[in-house]
Amino acid sequence: MEKYTVKYNELTAEEFITLWETVWGAGPSPEQTRLAMENTLFRVSVFDGEKIIAMARMIGDMGLCCYIKDVVVRPEYQGRGIGRMLIEELLKFTGGHGVAGTDVFVELCAMPDKIPFYEKFGFDRNEAQRLKMMYHI
Ligand SMILES: CC(C)(COP(=O)(O)OP(=O)(O)OC[C@H]1O[C@@H](n2cnc3c(N)ncnc32)[C@H](O)[C@@H]1OP(=O)(O)O)[C@@H](O)C(=O)NCCC(=O)NCCS
Repeated sequence: MEKYTVKYNELTAEEFITLWETVWGAGPSPEQTRLAMENTLFRVSVFDGEKIIAMARMIGDMGLCCYIKDVVVRPEYQGRGIGRMLIEELLKFTGGHGVAGTDVFVELCAMPDKIPFYEKFGFDRNEAQRLKMMYHI
């Protein structure tokens, strides 16, 4: 991990879209993504030299609830411990900003093949189902 550079709250919309498109196809618009970056609680990005290779972000209210979003490691860098580092950074941030002595609900949504990755950090599924809609602006 030493050879990579980790940045906090510097992830740009352009970097986000670049990385998104390495794993999920066409990314969101720059305008939407810029708004999302501005309103994210905590962003982590990882660079190999000038190249962005990983990102993750935390949204939420810090006091009661946090939500992990957009955990991505560039495919050719997967399996080297970078995903683990991203999750540990998000949890460290949460631990450092909540109310001491209380519990914060940390949530995320994962595809079935990624659930074992998150279980390594103590995440556990419950019976709640994810409901979603695309709301047109
Ligand atoms: C999921 C993802 C972030 C994992 O990142 P990574 O850098 O490959 O993960 P790491 O190398 O840090 O792996 C950490 C541990 O999780 C394990 N792991 C990683 N992916 C796993 C998977 N899909 N299933 C089971 N275990 C997994 C590793 O074996 C490792 O185990 P160990 O610490 O006991 O040796 C990465 O595969 C990715 O970006 N995928 C595409 C985007 C995506 O689907 N993101 C998740 C959205 S929910």
